[in-house]
Amino acid sequence: MFAILLAATIILASFAVLVCANKRDAALPPGPWNLPLIGCLHKLDPERAYVNLTKLAQKYGPIYSIRLGKVSTVVISDHKLLKKVLMKDEALGRPSLYFFDYICRGKGITYSHINVWKDQRKFISDFLRSVGGAKVSAKKEALENEIRRSVEEFVYLVKSYEGSGILLAEAVTSYVGTVTSTLFLGKSCPREDSAKAIQALDEVVKMSVVAGPINFLPFLRFLPMYANVISVLQNIWNKMHNFVNEVIKYNAQFSPDEKEDSLPSIINAFMQKKSTRNSDEIYNLEELRYLILDMFGASTETTVTSILWTVLYLAKYEDVQEKVRQELLSVLNGKTPQMGDLENLPYTEATLAEVARIRTTVAMGVPHLALEDIYVENFKIQKNTMIMPLLWAIHMNPNVWNEPEEFRPSRFLNDERKFVQPEELLPFSVGKRMCVGEHLAKMLIFLFMATILQTFKIESCEPEIDLSAVCGITLLPKPQKVVFKNIDK
Ligand code: HEM
Repeated sequence: MFAILLAATIILASFAVLVCANKRDAALPPGPWNLPLIGCLHKLDPERAYVNLTKLAQKYGPIYSIRLGKVSTVVISDHKLLKKVLMKDEALGRPSLYFFDYICRGKGITYSHINVWKDQRKFISDFLRSVGGAKVSAKKEALENEIRRSVEEFVYLVKSYEGSGILLAEAVTSYVGTVTSTLFLGKSCPREDSAKAIQALDEVVKMSVVAGPINFLPFLRFLPMYANVISVLQNIWNKMHNFVNEVIKYNAQFSPDEKEDSLPSIINAFMQKKSTRNSDEIYNLEELRYLILDMFGASTETTVTSILWTVLYLAKYEDVQEKVRQELLSVLNGKTPQMGDLENLPYTEATLAEVARIRTTVAMGVPHLALEDIYVENFKIQKNTMIMPLLWAIHMNPNVWNEPEEFRPSRFLNDERKFVQPEELLPFSVGKRMCVGEHLAKMLIFLFMATILQTFKIESCEPEIDLSAVCGITLLPKPQKVVFKNIDK
C-alpha cells in the first residue's frame, strides 16, 4: 500500500513539475512541451539542430516558443514576420549566452551591450562604406586591387598543383584571410602572423561548437570535459589578445593620415576617431582589441564557408559551371573582373544567390534578444526572450521556393533573363542588426569566382562531391579535395 502511495505521489509531483515548466501566457507563440531543466534540448541533434528546428516549425507554425535549457526562445521561420520583428528597436539586443559573454565581454559589435553596439556599429558601417560602398572611390579601388592580388596568389598556388587535388578550405581561408587581415590588422602585419591568428580563430570557432551546450546549461562548465575546453579556449584567447595588442602598438607608431588611394585599416580609422574625443569609454584600446577580433571572426569564417559551397556546387553541377563561365567569358571578354560587372552577369549573380539560399551559411541566424515585450500579429514575445531567426527554414520553405532541395539558379531570373532579388532571400539576415559586411562578402565571393572560372574548370577528386553539411557556427561542408584544370590546356 505504501509503495502504491509513494509511486502515485512521485507521478503526481512529476506531473506538477512538468505543468509548472510549461505554464505559459496564452498570448505566447505555441510550442512543444518542455522538460524541467533541459527544456527541449533533447529534441536537438547539435550537428543538425537547424533541421530539427525546421521540423518543429512545420508542426507549430512560423513563430513558436521553445525553451533551450534555461533560455526561453522564440523561433521565427517566416520572412515577413522576421522582418516585422527585427526592424523593431525592441529586438536589437543579444541574449546572454555563457560562451559568447565569456569571449566578447559585451564589447566589440556582434555580441556587445546595446550602448557600445550603437557607437561601434556606426563606426564600422562608415568605415566599410568608405572602402567598399556603392560609390566609386580611390579607397574602393584599393580594396578591389587588394582582393585581386589575393585571388592571383590563389591562382598561382593552384597552378603549382598542376591539376592534382587540392584541399580547398586551407587555400580559400588564406585568400579571404589575406584581405580581412589587411583591413582589420593593417598592411604592415606580417603574413605568417596573420595566418597564425586565423588558425587560432578557427580553433576558437571549433571550440565554441563543443562548448555550445554551456550556453543553455551554464552549470555544465564545472564538468571536466567542458572545464578543459574553457581552459584551452582561455589560453588561445589570451594569446590572440596579446597578438592584437602588439599589432595595435606597432600600427600606432605610424601617422593615422592615409593617402586617398591607400587601403585603410580599422586601426587607423579608430585611432583617428579616438583623437577627436578627449576621454571615452568606447574609443579606448581595449575596445579596439575586441572590435578587431570580432570583425576578423565575423568576416573570415562566413565568407570562406560561402566560397567553399560555391566551388563545391559548381564542381557537382558542371552544366551550371559551364553556363557561368560562358557568360563571364562573353561579357568580360578577357578583362579583369570588377564588382560593377556583376549587374551585367545575371546568370552568375543568380548562381551565387542560389548557393546562398540552398546552403544558408548562418543557418540559425545570430540570436537577438527582446529588450521589451514585442507584439507581432496576435502574439507576444516576452521581454528577455531569445529570438532565433531560422534562416534555413525561410530558404527551404516549399510554399515560397518551388522544389527547394533542387539547385536551380534560374529561379532568380525573370522572363527577360534579368536577375531578381526576392525578399525571401535573407542570407545576411534583416533589420537594423543585419550583417554590416554584406557588400564586402559579395565582393570577395564574386571577384574570386569570376577570376577562377575564367581560368580553370573545377572538377571533383572523389567519385562524388559530398554536399552534406555539418552545423557549427556556420553550416560547413565536409573537407574534400577538388581539381582545378587549366581551361587553356
Ligand atoms: C557570406 C558571408 C557572410 C554572411 C553569410 C554573413 C551573415 C551574417 C548574419 C546572418 C548576421 C546576423 C545578423 C543579425 O543579427 O540578424 C551577421 C552579422 C554580422 N556580420 Fe556578417 N556575414 C558575412 C560576412 C561578413 C563580413 C565580410 C563581415 C565584415 C566585414 C561581417 C560582419 C558582421 C558583423 C560585424 C555582424 C554583427 C552585426 C551587429 O551585431 O550589428 N559579416 N552576418
